[in-house]
Amino acid sequence: MGDPIIETQDLTFRYSGNDSPSLDGVSLRIGRGVRTVILGANGAGKSTLFYHFNGLFRPSSGRVLFDGQPVGYRRRGLRELRSRVAVVLQNPDDQIFGQTVEDDVAYGPRNLGLDEREVEARVERALALVGMSGMRDRNTMKLSYGQRKRLSIAGAIAMEPEVLVMDEPTAGLDPQMSLELMELAEQLHHSGTTVVISTHDVDLAYAWADEIHVLRKGRLIYSGESEGFYSDPVQVYLTGLIQPSMFLINKSLCDMRGLPEVPFPRTETQLVSKMASGPKGRFVILPVRDAMSPSMVDSAVSWLGGTEIRLGLYGTTCRRLLPDSGVPVDYVFDGFESCMSQCLMGRDVVLLCDEGCVDIVASKIRRLEDFGTVVETKVL
Ligand SMILES: Nc1ncnc2c1ncn2[C@@H]1O[C@H](COP(=O)(O)OP(=O)(O)OP(=O)(O)O)[C@@H](O)[C@H]1O
Ligand SMILES: [Mg+2]
Repeated sequence: MGDPIIETQDLTFRYSGNDSPSLDGVSLRIGRGVRTVILGANGAGKSTLFYHFNGLFRPSSGRVLFDGQPVGYRRRGLRELRSRVAVVLQNPDDQIFGQTVEDDVAYGPRNLGLDEREVEARVERALALVGMSGMRDRNTMKLSYGQRKRLSIAGAIAMEPEVLVMDEPTAGLDPQMSLELMELAEQLHHSGTTVVISTHDVDLAYAWADEIHVLRKGRLIYSGESEGFYSDPVQVYLTGLIQPSMFLINKSLCDMRGLPEVPFPRTETQLVSKMASGPKGRFVILPVRDAMSPSMVDSAVSWLGGTEIRLGLYGTTCRRLLPDSGVPVDYVFDGFESCMSQCLMGRDVVLLCDEGCVDIVASKIRRLEDFGTVVETKVL
């Protein structure tokens, strides 16, 4: 890991009136650009820890460093910190102040002193990223829970922070929105934001995290790659968690086939890659900017020269354009994984992909090489 962007040193915090501390001597380092998950059961101290990351709470003892410097708790220090670290709280109601959706998202950027044109551009971009562009004038009091959650995330994104900290971002979201949110986290990661998430959803954490920090009753009991933690079932049990299904399936299949457990697959296609042999199909990526039509697909299909071609989507723009496009896709969510599974079975596939996500898809394909799969790929 390079220099940590956030570090806690012996951080202890006790809520007034409580007998025992909610954080007890926590020392952890979050690397710049490292996909980080804070994992822990209910009451483990995740939210309490996050309140320290933007200076909302001050340690009872110990300290918090941002970018190598101790956090300053005077007005200027906090202002500076909060322009660089945005924390999305677990409960969106603790964070929504504006009367309308657009007022609420504009609040943070305006406070940064940005001019109105820049504020407007940020509001538009942030609302598009969380799929709320059509709700700008809605009263924030009359949004559903999931909509309020997405709004609070848009507010944080609009700050364009170096570090985006999200406390249980998928809790209360429907399955499509949860997937979209993880795609968004991936996009922000690729654009250079350090994304930190807390969750007790071990499957989500396992698929996404480069590094996890595990809390148990306010104490940090593990920091590092996921497998080092999940390999000890008693430790996982005592932490109030379970092992991720992908970790268990890999273990069983490797046992059955006499294969080594490493490399550990984190996704379905990494697992299939590890197990499958035989010829692979070709993988065509079709970047989509602001329009999607059957003729685009025709050109890809004729380039492939085949008939049994599977078609998938990746990214929010593609999904938004789908209903009016007339494009007959086979996979909408998660198009990459489904198309790649087909490709591993020997079929040619076309993935319509948001222009801004092409690099993400290319890196997912490259990652499969660690699992023994090389797929002929073309970006049209
Ligand atoms: N406002 C408060 N006053 C007193 N104790 C609190 C307060 N908020 C949290 N605690 C206690 O601090 C501990 C850690 O709580 P915290 O909310 O940080 O856990 P968490 O890991 O975020 O849990 P969850 O998964 O339920 O969100 C718990 O024992 C909780 O009861
Ligand atoms: Mg919490």
